[in-house]
Amino acid sequence: DMLFSDDSAFHLPLSTGLNSLLDKARVAVEIVSPVWFLSPSDYVSSFYPAAGQVKQDKFSDTLHRTGCRVLLFLFFFSPPNFAGAEVHKVNMTALTGGFLESSFWVVDRKHFYIGSASMDWRSLTTVIKELGVVVYDCKPLALDLHKVFSLYWGLQHKTFIPTFWSKRLFPFFSKGKPGSLLVNQTKVETYISSSPDVFTTKDRSSDLEAISAVIQQARHFIYISIIDYLPVDSFASVPRYWSRIDGLLREALILRNVHVRLLISCWEETHPLTFNFIWSLKSLCMDSCICAVRSLYNCVGMNHNRFMVTDKAVYIGNLDWVGKEFTYNAGAGLVISHPANVTERNSTVVEQLQAVFKRDWFSRYANTIQTNKIPVCSNIIHKICSITFMKSLQKNFTTILLLVKKIK
Ligand SMILES: *[C@@H]1O[C@H](CO)[C@@H](O)[C@H](O)[C@H]1NC(C)=O
Ligand SMILES: *[C@@H]1O[C@H](CO)[C@@H](O)[C@H](O)[C@H]1NC(C)=O
Ligand SMILES: *[C@@H]1O[C@H](CO)[C@@H](O)[C@H](O)[C@H]1NC(C)=O
Ligand SMILES: *[C@@H]1O[C@H](CO)[C@@H](O)[C@H](O)[C@H]1NC(C)=O
Repeated sequence: DMLFSDDSAFHLPLSTGLNSLLDKARVAVEIVSPVWFLSPSDYVSSFYPAAGQVKQDKFSDTLHRTGCRVLLFLFFFSPPNFAGAEVHKVNMTALTGGFLESSFWVVDRKHFYIGSASMDWRSLTTVIKELGVVVYDCKPLALDLHKVFSLYWGLQHKTFIPTFWSKRLFPFFSKGKPGSLLVNQTKVETYISSSPDVFTTKDRSSDLEAISAVIQQARHFIYISIIDYLPVDSFASVPRYWSRIDGLLREALILRNVHVRLLISCWEETHPLTFNFIWSLKSLCMDSCICAVRSLYNCVGMNHNRFMVTDKAVYIGNLDWVGKEFTYNAGAGLVISHPANVTERNSTVVEQLQAVFKRDWFSRYANTIQTNKIPVCSNIIHKICSITFMKSLQKNFTTILLLVKKIK
């Protein structure tokens, strides 16, 4: 439902990618998702014809066809009711006091998906704007992501975090030792990161280390598309300034003259302090550097993207850039960067994401945030589309959809 100019970046729908992963599955489909909510009622489907694009039946079919295992790792909601899937849950309250936000698939330990969309029909249709990548035939990296899955799998019924992790969970690749792989004949360096620190095994880079490295390596520009940007640790007994990412962006802006663009979502839960931090970032830039901030909203839904792209690398993750997220919540990230000494190269995932970012930035849905003016983010449309609101009203779904229809 979003209109972009004809020549802007175009990519396959996420549902197409996920269905293709199910078609390829021969041994095991392993999924981590905070939610499992793929089948809306027939009534809902009548408003959103695309709603059943990744059908729950398709999982059962895959099981029957290939005899493969489907392992699910969920946080919210009851497990799906199809036979054969093994479902584990984790009590994050007991382990970290946070949430499981991780969202990825590993298929046959060879292919994988990672991105902002969880297994929620709204994420796979028109209501919520998401972005993820599907990687085929990439055993080394799929195995590293699978190790994150295995770690979660072992935490079922646990009420404490193990002091030592099994060696099996240690990754091959990290920030200091990235995997040197060919993606479509182009050499890249890559690794998987994870959060929080207490779930990060030896040799695994944390999401924060990954984000820091990508920001620090940028020479010309840093484009960030994120739901919430708030450098505050609000979980601490007294809210504290949380400088880990904000400080690096300021350094990039002022000391390295790197051009920073921040595309945040404007929605009902945008914390008012967000704008104070953004104004202060903007005011740092005189003539020599550019810091531009826009907020993005989709008139029928909500922007849920969580990625960063620079002139050198991409980071695609599961968490918002808010202090408490990285300390308490579980998430995973993927870094793909151009090797430092290669100048000539083919079109890569880095260029593709740059194009996606620019498409959104220059689209009709992005508005510049004016200094000292708090934008109105919480009109009724955003309320309807906000996830928490939807969750709280799931039982009253028909009412919400009627409302959407009326506004449209
Ligand atoms: C999760 O852990 C918390 C704290 O230990 C406990 O109060 C709660 O009952 C547990 N929840 C479940 C579903 O086991
Ligand atoms: C670009 O792709 C071609 C084949 O499609 C390959 O031969 C060449 O090495 C690639 N260039 C780089 C820099 O990876
Ligand atoms: C680039 O650097 C890598 C190690 O960082 C090295 O193995 C490779 O030979 C270098 N390539 C060129 C073209 O210098
Ligand atoms: C790799 O090649 C496939 C098939 O040609 C194409 O669909 C995809 O967009 C390419 N990916 C990248 C990152 O260039």
